[in-house]
Amino acid sequence: MSTNKDKLVIFDTTLRDGEQSPGASMTKEEKIHIARMLERMRVDVIEAGFAIASQGDFEAVQAVAETVKDSRVCSLARAVGPDIIRAAEALKKANAPRIHTFIATSPIHMKYKLQMEPEKVLQQAVEAVKHARQYTDDVEFSLEDGSRSEPEFMYRIIEAVIKAGAGTINIPDTVGYGEPEEYGAMFRRVIENVPNSDKAIFSTHCHNDLGLAVANSLSAVMNGVRQVECTINGLGERAGNASLEEIVMAVRTRQDLYPVDTRIDTSHIVPTSRLVSSITGFPVQPNKAIVGANAFAHESGIHQDGVLKHRETYEIMRAEDVGWGNNRLVLGKHSGRAAVKARYEELGHTFDDAGEFQVIFQRFKDLADKKHEIFDEDLHSIIAGTEEPVEHYRLASLDVHSRSGQNPRAQLQLMIDGEEFAAEAEGSGPVDAAFKAIESVVKSQADLKLYSVNAVTQGTDSQGSVTVRLERNGRLVNGVGADTDILVASAQAYLDALNLLSNGESKAKGV
Ligand code: KIV
Ligand code: ZN
Repeated sequence: MSTNKDKLVIFDTTLRDGEQSPGASMTKEEKIHIARMLERMRVDVIEAGFAIASQGDFEAVQAVAETVKDSRVCSLARAVGPDIIRAAEALKKANAPRIHTFIATSPIHMKYKLQMEPEKVLQQAVEAVKHARQYTDDVEFSLEDGSRSEPEFMYRIIEAVIKAGAGTINIPDTVGYGEPEEYGAMFRRVIENVPNSDKAIFSTHCHNDLGLAVANSLSAVMNGVRQVECTINGLGERAGNASLEEIVMAVRTRQDLYPVDTRIDTSHIVPTSRLVSSITGFPVQPNKAIVGANAFAHESGIHQDGVLKHRETYEIMRAEDVGWGNNRLVLGKHSGRAAVKARYEELGHTFDDAGEFQVIFQRFKDLADKKHEIFDEDLHSIIAGTEEPVEHYRLASLDVHSRSGQNPRAQLQLMIDGEEFAAEAEGSGPVDAAFKAIESVVKSQADLKLYSVNAVTQGTDSQGSVTVRLERNGRLVNGVGADTDILVASAQAYLDALNLLSNGESKAKGV
């Protein structure tokens, strides 16, 4: 980071707002993996969850707080006593804890959601900040739905919470309604009109409902904001949040323009994106900026010719600077334990004991027998497949007959709590037949909400990565499966989702 630039604080909320994406819930172990990668990437603040939302969220924040040393760890808390106490408890062992407390400040939210008078909201905000300051000197205050709040009221509440001890003031565009020029100008006016604004760092937090989250965040930066809240792959509630990789690379690439820089080690961006995608089962679209498979691929002859002659003719960033290239390496069936373990460590996975690694190594060997080359994406999917807390349902074997002009027929053997069941069914396609065969035994009464298949790597021997989203009684889960045979991957993903549904503490969210 060059010295004449201000520091832009990168606040990652993949584990909190990202997790609020329908079906993107993560287990504690998955959150720890992602947090380790974020720390390695040198993210400044990791929002690990919403401690009061559920016991699972509390334990995840606590575990991340215990694991991460080089980034601040933060928990969200509404501006009420029990939330703040729970957040403080979860963060007790953090090296650098932050409590992030919020209350809505727009007329529509105060009137209909909170049913509170503005004066009462102001008073509660101040009390919450003072309360949070009893546990840590790093308190962030957010004005929920800030972009639709009355300017004069915002000035008063911001001045009061800064006086009460908030060091960071976040004004979110909660519903993704803002527009870059307007949202940036809002920050400029706030900073000019709040008498003690120089005592706090201003922060942006944008949702992508109109596809403007990154543009709005960058406009805020141009108008004095020095913290950006964002997520890996733009994961998040509804259309998602501002994407971390796009913000960081925009600022890094246009140093001629932005008065800021970050301390992010960008070479970890692609591996982290892959990890989040394989854990959540949310694929990255091929044309996604920075981390999409096509982001650095030139198809047209004119472009290829230009790049070969002088790379900068068509490339504004280097693929290797964001972690493409160094993840293409390749392990195979002759690779030994040390090489596999070392690669996992480079990817941010450490193993608590030899037994845990042995299970992973065996899965690695099984996969290496089926395909020649094992890529980083394969290693992530091997890990992702080991972490379900309880495996009630397991696929023992699958046989699908498919012939043109006839309905496909699936025969399978299922293990349910250790007992073997056989089933068969016809379907309109081979995947449908496999799912029907499973349901003929399990009778889950779950609704299939999404089925998606992606190639984990390139080539016809690539693993197919399948995501199956099921809903039962209002609860959504994403099951994932990966195998070189996509029918097997599909059945595994379906069973993974059933395991999550049947598992009480699993990936359920409490909010
Ligand atoms: O979008 C939002 O307003 C939030 C706040 C809780 C920060 O996520
Ligand atoms: Zn949000």
